[in-house]
Amino acid sequence: MAKEKTVYFCKECGFESPKWLGQCPGCKAWNSFAEGLAPAKESKGKVSRSLGLSEVTSLSKVSAKEEERFSSGISEFDRVLGGGIVKGSLVLVGGDPGIGKSTLLLQVCKETSAAGKKVLYVSGEESPRQIKMRADRLGEFAGDVRLLAETDLDKILENIKDEKPDLVVIDSIQTMFISSVDAAPGSVSQVREATLTLMNLAKGENITVFLVGHVTKEGVVAGPRTLEHMVDTVLYFEGENVASYRMLRAVKNRFGSTNEVGVFEMSEKGLREVLNPSEYMLAGSPADEPGSVVTCIMEGTRPMLIEVQALVSQTNFNLPRRAAAGTDYNRVNLLMAVLEKRMGLSMGACDAYVNIAGGIKVAEPGLDLAICLALVSSYKNRAMGSGTVCFGEVGLTGEIRGVGMAMARVAEAKKLGFKTVILPAVNKSGINIKGINVIGISSIRELNDLL
Ligand code: TYD
Ligand code: MG
Repeated sequence: MAKEKTVYFCKECGFESPKWLGQCPGCKAWNSFAEGLAPAKESKGKVSRSLGLSEVTSLSKVSAKEEERFSSGISEFDRVLGGGIVKGSLVLVGGDPGIGKSTLLLQVCKETSAAGKKVLYVSGEESPRQIKMRADRLGEFAGDVRLLAETDLDKILENIKDEKPDLVVIDSIQTMFISSVDAAPGSVSQVREATLTLMNLAKGENITVFLVGHVTKEGVVAGPRTLEHMVDTVLYFEGENVASYRMLRAVKNRFGSTNEVGVFEMSEKGLREVLNPSEYMLAGSPADEPGSVVTCIMEGTRPMLIEVQALVSQTNFNLPRRAAAGTDYNRVNLLMAVLEKRMGLSMGACDAYVNIAGGIKVAEPGLDLAICLALVSSYKNRAMGSGTVCFGEVGLTGEIRGVGMAMARVAEAKKLGFKTVILPAVNKSGINIKGINVIGISSIRELNDLL
């Protein structure tokens, strides 16, 4: 037998090194290296064989028939996957603990089994009784969901051979282990080998496999980034613990676009789809209050109206306090400097707080104009007037720059009954939507006239 080679892996990003390092050169994490086995060479070969790549063919001879898909029974989930679950695909669902990954996948099991698919739910974290308790909250199960509480992957594979399911859920990949791999469950080598084995299963037997992956506090799927390279699709389930909305985002998808997001709400009876996110996000927003502005952001290809709030008040200290919730703190500071310099507002002597209502996080430049308007509105104590939506990027010279998908944003504003849209002048010419008043502005100085 060949001598087994040990290598060191970064537990955060999967960086591989022949010797131990204090700091990872890949992700700069400290003290993150752990010993593990070098990935077996022949197992890599196995994967490529099972993908049917052993022969050279001409691109023109390859038939481009659509992958075979079936519906998960949850339209938001189908949308994120690019139009349904692809047969024989390996999908990683990542997210913080308690965000609802197990609930989401159990709901997928519920719907697909009701549609006649054979489903197997493998849990390495919970007993069948605990799963049953969760299932009871989700309502009546019309189909039969097979359960297995097991962490030994070899035993799981045997069971899969007997059961021959169409869909397998592995909850979670970090709890799985292969006895022949000499490392603890959750370590980089175990997670890698387990994923590789499941990849072979998915491609070889044409079984769809969903993997649940835990996310570390740094926000990456625990252990290996390498895991993300191995699977077909990576979905992240995110949201704030304080808010009940959840967003499912594709960060990698070999079978569809990564632009789609699905919006859910955690309720008493499991996850509910939010079909109109704008309405949901604007629920309870005040009308005609200074400092409150509605904007339209894009979540993938989907426009979404949200409320931006600002509170500007005289400071009581030498150093003014600034805070931003849901958006970038440095960006808020930058925009305040632009307002000070280009509009002549004396923001330097003011405390300022900016908040995106609903607990959502936004990092889009199209949000700039709304932040500026909210700040100016609060500073002057003059309300924006309800019925107005604004969006646009603000540059350092105070110019308002164009943003993408302006049409979709205006259409969304109109759909929700808004009367006026303030947008970058360069975007205005492209808008041909009747029944809504469109105001194009090209400089931040024009905000004076709007308030
Ligand atoms: P869970 O799916 O166990 O999270 P994960 O697998 O990502 O760790 O979801 C846990 C949370 O969801 C828990 O705090 C309870 C809540 N929850 C509800 O609010 N309603 C429900 O119907 C269910 C099943 C869970
Ligand atoms: Mg769970």
